[in-house]
Amino acid sequence: MAEQLIVDITQSKAERYQSLLPQIEALIDGEKDVTANLANIAAALRQSMNFFWVGFYIVKNNAEPAGRQELVLGPFQGPIACSRIAFGKGVCGTSWKEKKILLVPNVDEFPGHIACSSDSKSEIVLPAFKNNEVALVLDVDSDQLNDFDATDEKYLSQLMKLIERFI
Ligand code: SME
Repeated sequence: MAEQLIVDITQSKAERYQSLLPQIEALIDGEKDVTANLANIAAALRQSMNFFWVGFYIVKNNAEPAGRQELVLGPFQGPIACSRIAFGKGVCGTSWKEKKILLVPNVDEFPGHIACSSDSKSEIVLPAFKNNEVALVLDVDSDQLNDFDATDEKYLSQLMKLIERFI
């Protein structure tokens, strides 16, 4: 495993993603523990992309009522966040329900957005699949409006494919 990430913060966003993804691949290579890999990925994204909040919500079975599933907070970097999100709620729960990437330029204009932090202004959420079902979502939040675009969608989608290898 690499001990150190090498990312030049003066580079463009696309260049940083291009140098980051192979390093993440090396980081998770040979490690099967899901928590360890997600934790390192959250840290690598925070460190290299300087995201305000970046982390995972994992689909888990709820004890009460039995059988119902929820998103539960997983490894993340940034301010403390909501622990649980219901199916179809907020941006994360909607991404899970609709099984698709959601790019939200202004969270105040997203019906039902869950404001874990009032500093969060825009976000992107991407699902990762296991057996054709959403197993987790990656949520990235910015304290700037309109901070995510097709470049983030392209490279974070590639990251989700790497994540699907070990979940
Ligand atoms: N804003 C998200 C909730 C998670 S946090 O912002 C970290 C949502 O609406 O799903």
